[in-house]
Amino acid sequence: MPRTATLTVDGKTLILPIIEGTSGEAGIDVSKLRDQTGLLTYDPAYGNTGACSSKITFIDGDKGILRYRGIPIEQFDTNPNFIEVAWLLIFGRLPKPDELLRFSRKLTLNAMLHEGMKHHFEGFPVNAPPMAILSAMINTLSCFDPEMLHLGDDAEKMEDAAASLISKVRTIAAYSYRRHKGLPFVYPDPRLRYCANFMHMMFTYPYDQYILDPVIDEALNLIFILHADHEQNCSTSTVRMVGSSKANLFASVAAGVCALWGPLHGGANVEVIDQLTEIHKGGISPEEMLQQVKDKKRQLMGFGHRVYKNFDPRARMLQKVAEKVFAKTNRRDPLLDIARKLEELALKDSYFVDRKLYPNVDFYSGIIFRAIGIPLEMFTVMFSIGRLPGWIAQWKEQHDAPGGRIARPRQIYTGTPLAEYIPIDRR
Ligand code: CMC
Repeated sequence: MPRTATLTVDGKTLILPIIEGTSGEAGIDVSKLRDQTGLLTYDPAYGNTGACSSKITFIDGDKGILRYRGIPIEQFDTNPNFIEVAWLLIFGRLPKPDELLRFSRKLTLNAMLHEGMKHHFEGFPVNAPPMAILSAMINTLSCFDPEMLHLGDDAEKMEDAAASLISKVRTIAAYSYRRHKGLPFVYPDPRLRYCANFMHMMFTYPYDQYILDPVIDEALNLIFILHADHEQNCSTSTVRMVGSSKANLFASVAAGVCALWGPLHGGANVEVIDQLTEIHKGGISPEEMLQQVKDKKRQLMGFGHRVYKNFDPRARMLQKVAEKVFAKTNRRDPLLDIARKLEELALKDSYFVDRKLYPNVDFYSGIIFRAIGIPLEMFTVMFSIGRLPGWIAQWKEQHDAPGGRIARPRQIYTGTPLAEYIPIDRR
């Protein structure tokens, strides 16, 4: 017998269906509520709203569980391959060896940008934020490949578009950094794998070819995997919101980049470093900073999560990655010790314990990026590269679903009920 919920409004009783997921999540279907009662549900920031059903990612925030297509993320720890996980997310299952090879080849073939795009980079001021360039350039990509604007139901075209985006985003990211530094662009090298090619385009100089250490390569693959999808977070919901108007994949993803930029979302990895640096420079002690947080004078960046209320499994895995990277680079970052101290103090403090605030993925990712040599202004771009397969997967799932409607929340109007227009006397 399917479960239902009963709602009584003004003496009228409604039986509402309950939608059941495959892993214990359930929600009351209120899609007919307004038709039947004239009322809408009120849930600012959507804390209790399921905007879609999805087969891509499962999170149990109370237990600290994150699974991609059913696979716990911890299982990607050994020999991580970001491209394999990207394919898994987008196409719904692990690729067979020939499928992975085909996709990897497509990535290689798509790594270069149209030469005409270089002029666009030159149009940006050197101090332009790389996230702004990234979003603009993802949209620009479609101008150079208008075929990709109309994917229809063509599975091969979808794979081509996914490969093109995943490959080109790293070239755009690297070029935006080179532009920022006023350095010449470095072309992708078809012999290099995904992360190695990205680092080559970022850091190769005419007199110094950048060679990625295998330990750092593995760390980067894992970091990208840990960022790859996170169900209906702010940027992914933005991608779906834009996509619901039947906007193309590139436009939808470019919007996702903008949403991710915010300091409460992907931009938090920059803010974490700013806070840790503030302590390191001696401007404030960890205890004083936490006191300011408790006094609501500031937030502790890299802490808290809408969904995780126990621990963020990504943050735990990142701590281990940090150890490996530091062992390799032999450069212990003093910010790591400050981060650990802050975490230790916070986890003993009732303000954080009562509100279930734990370190999230952004708390340790920035420290690892620093150790790898990624500059601060690129941190959120790194998050974007990692999140891209998730955005593509979510856009595709929505695109493929029959009968999709445009996303269009309602509101409770609280303004002046009725006013009169009195024209200004312009004589
Ligand atoms: N520092 C201090 N207090 C906090 C923090 C924080 N980082 N996060 C939440 N709180 C407090 C909040 O003020 C509220 O207190 P009160 O009950 O006294 O009003 C309580 O905890 C509940 O929080 P909330 O406002 O309901 O949390 P939310 O679900 O709306 O926001 C969040 C989630 C991640 C935006 C928030 O925790 C935050 O701003 N954290 C800092 C920014 C950050 O690290 N963002 C990265 C998130 S993970 C990566 C990603 O996917 O984006």
